[in-house]
Amino acid sequence: MKRFIQHEELARDSRFVRQDNRQSTLLAALPDDVDKVVDAFEQFSDMIEASVKGTAAEPLFEAYGPAFALTVLNEPLDPDAPAGTTRLLLRMHGIFVGEVQALEGSARSLWDFPDAPWEFKMNMARQAWDEARHVQIFEKLLTHLGGEVGMFPESTFLFECACSKDPAMRVAGVNRGLEGLACDVFRDMIRYAEKTGDEKMRQAIDYVLADELTHVRFGSEWVYEFTKDDPEYLERTREYRRTVDKQFSFGGARSDREDAAIPIAWEDRLEAGFTEEELEDLASISSSGPSRKTLVEAARILRERHLAKRAPSKQPETTEAGR
Ligand SMILES: [Fe+2]
Ligand SMILES: [Fe+2]
Repeated sequence: MKRFIQHEELARDSRFVRQDNRQSTLLAALPDDVDKVVDAFEQFSDMIEASVKGTAAEPLFEAYGPAFALTVLNEPLDPDAPAGTTRLLLRMHGIFVGEVQALEGSARSLWDFPDAPWEFKMNMARQAWDEARHVQIFEKLLTHLGGEVGMFPESTFLFECACSKDPAMRVAGVNRGLEGLACDVFRDMIRYAEKTGDEKMRQAIDYVLADELTHVRFGSEWVYEFTKDDPEYLERTREYRRTVDKQFSFGGARSDREDAAIPIAWEDRLEAGFTEEELEDLASISSSGPSRKTLVEAARILRERHLAKRAPSKQPETTEAGR
């Protein structure tokens, strides 16, 4: 019987639009160099445009060009910023599909390792149960904010990181890397809900965050269990998690930098079993990459070129979604 499935094979209904994962990983590899960032986005421009066609992200593309993701990812969420609601919905939708993939990832960890201890399977079953509840919570929050399922394209690169065939690597990447990222994002969303006085959103995400801490703990415990008496194996799982962490730092957007859109949830992570040393390491991995100044400048150039291509006689400020 087939055991390991690829991310392209994930089942979705007709509401979902699939995005090429290369776009999502683009930011992780960029240097702190305006020209190189501009070149990279121009190279992907057609693909980015095709992936947002007919979705709620199309106006963002029209307003900002191929680098609209830079504006969305690298600026802190602000209800008063241009296209603030669209950006909030884009993040919320990203979290929603992330939860769907977290459910698929934890459920496959239960299925993929038939020889793992019973307690491991119970933990993965518990996580799948939690993630199913999170899917429902974020679907409701998406509606609460005025959005709907399938309004933005879905990238499955989160699930891609849940495809390691080794159980220790799997929990290192998923439960410590990705679930750790969830802690950072959810703490940021709670701060946003406090700022806007949205008590429903604040409380719902606070409940979800409590579950995510447990999922990180599963990772912390099982990585040590699977690699006990084999320090070299433990080191390899650390390296793998560092790769995942780098990938999901979005070029420093999620980091401990002063200009980070999503800061590292230091206190939550300590509670979930990360050590100070690991967090210092995460801070240094995630902080490398283009500075905010570089990205802002690259986004400006890309937007200018995009608008010039669209309507040579129009001024950049005249677009609808840019207001
Ligand atoms: Fe979750
Ligand atoms: Fe989780």
